[in-house]
Amino acid sequence: MAKVTKRKKLVVGNWKMNPQTLEESQKIFKGIKKVFGKVKNVEVLVCPPYTYIQPLNKILEPLKLGAQDVFFESVGSFTGEVSASMLVDAGCAYVIIGHSERRAMGETSEIVSKKIATAVKENLKIILCVGENVRDTSGDYLEFLKNQLKDSLVGMQKRYLSNIVIAYEPVWLIGKSYGNAMSGQDVQEISIFIKKVLADIYGKDESSKNLILYGGSVAPINAKDIIEHGQVDGFLVGRQSLEPTGFNEIIKIVSEA
Ligand code: 13P
Repeated sequence: MAKVTKRKKLVVGNWKMNPQTLEESQKIFKGIKKVFGKVKNVEVLVCPPYTYIQPLNKILEPLKLGAQDVFFESVGSFTGEVSASMLVDAGCAYVIIGHSERRAMGETSEIVSKKIATAVKENLKIILCVGENVRDTSGDYLEFLKNQLKDSLVGMQKRYLSNIVIAYEPVWLIGKSYGNAMSGQDVQEISIFIKKVLADIYGKDESSKNLILYGGSVAPINAKDIIEHGQVDGFLVGRQSLEPTGFNEIIKIVSEA
């Protein structure tokens, strides 16, 4: 009988526009590396600002690096933009696309879908962020989520599907008090919903390979409940990924779940 191997869970640190110096970034990175080196069943990825990617790449193993964004054209006169091939060249294995903080600055799902198309061609793995801005009692947020997911994946070929990780980040729970994070039970409902939307687009067999992450005020005090009851494969972590102690604790919780 074929041996069934459990797929690796994934913990992603999104540093956003932090910290302010390369020296600090190296200190945090090394602090995470120290504990993570001992964890075998979890893949850990740090997404620093662009300018730290290459220097951190020199002290990489066994961590992985990702970027927080990418441009949708592959080459040319686009002042201020960074291409997918540049990210690969700098040492990135992943890229976050469609984070709510970028969507709030005007990034539409159409732009997101173009970025995905460019990134998959360069063999980058993608953390696609989706999440509603608010919750209503009539369930409109589910429709919003479905459309955001479908529109972001427009034109994405089935063969690239396994390169896409879906990060569910309810916008109203980002940057909030850790005690108010979503319960595992509530995350589970959304996780099942996302799997159903993906299955409707790509078929059940294909979409069952996608990892689903939860993000939004994740910390050691809420990680256990979410990973044990949320039917997710890991986390997308903001503030706590800049705190090696907290981040390492989250990695440990995921590893033991
Ligand atoms: P916090 O974990 O700080 O709430 O940030 C979540 C997030 O936006 C990660 O991408």
